[in-house]
Amino acid sequence: MRGTYKAGILAEKIYTARKSMKITQEVLAEKLGITPQSVSRWENGQSRPDVDMLPRIAAFFGVTIDALFGYQAENLKIANYEEKHKKITPQWTFATSQLAREVLGFMPPIGQKNILEIGCGDGQEAVFFARNGYVVSALGASEVSITKGKALAEEIGVDVNFFRADILNYKIEKNFDVIYSSGVMQYVPPKDRPRVFKMLQSQTKVGGLNALSVFVDKSFIELSPYWEKNEYLYNSAELFSYYGRDWKFEMMQEIYFRNDGEEKPHDHCVDIMIARKISE
Ligand SMILES: C[S@@+](CC[C@H](N)C(=O)[O-])C[C@H]1O[C@@H](n2cnc3c(N)ncnc32)[C@H](O)[C@@H]1O
Repeated sequence: MRGTYKAGILAEKIYTARKSMKITQEVLAEKLGITPQSVSRWENGQSRPDVDMLPRIAAFFGVTIDALFGYQAENLKIANYEEKHKKITPQWTFATSQLAREVLGFMPPIGQKNILEIGCGDGQEAVFFARNGYVVSALGASEVSITKGKALAEEIGVDVNFFRADILNYKIEKNFDVIYSSGVMQYVPPKDRPRVFKMLQSQTKVGGLNALSVFVDKSFIELSPYWEKNEYLYNSAELFSYYGRDWKFEMMQEIYFRNDGEEKPHDHCVDIMIARKISE
């Protein structure tokens, strides 16, 4: 384990996780099978949960036990996204949900169609898919995003298997009808892209879809002031080039939009694609 334990951090983590889920001490107590007084004592630092209660608290909030104590596992130091997830950017959400809506047309949720979302943000798309009848797994790099996603799914009353993972280290084990990812693949450095796209493709069922959007480099668009060191733009049409003769493009598009939902408005170019696997 790495990092420095700070006194009182457990109390603070329980308090903030509960608040971000917008639930009362009474509700948390009921979910954990304890009294509201115990929750109150944990949150004001008068006492600590029993050791055997920790996995239940961590599972309830969708975080690791390390995270409850303020430790960050080294391999999950992925992106400085924790802060960003506390805000929402309506323009981006709009652009990305367009792609999600397109998926409905190309892979209607008839039968038990399963979707894997990579980089689930605040969970809106994962919940959207679940509401429309898909069986949804959604991975996110950020604890905040997973917590928000779970809270949203609970609020809307749908099941989504949200879990924390880094797409650079994660091995997709199951096969999916749809692998969906919007605005996330820029975290995959160019050298890793052939491997990661190959994994997405091999874990897609024949007849299934990859629905993806990526940020694209254009000489006439300035880099976003929020761009991080571990984000790498795609060349124009590069995304399409990973999809070869076994894949049929159902939709390919390059779109431009302005994100003025943040303090410093900025422009983006995004390549969007829905491709169907025709054969192995
Ligand atoms: C621009 S946001 C897009 C979020 C969401 N897909 C949407 O469209 O609203 C980028 C997302 O990628 C996630 N992310 C960053 N690095 C990642 C990684 N290595 N593995 C998985 N997700 C990652 C971030 O946590 C963030 O949720």
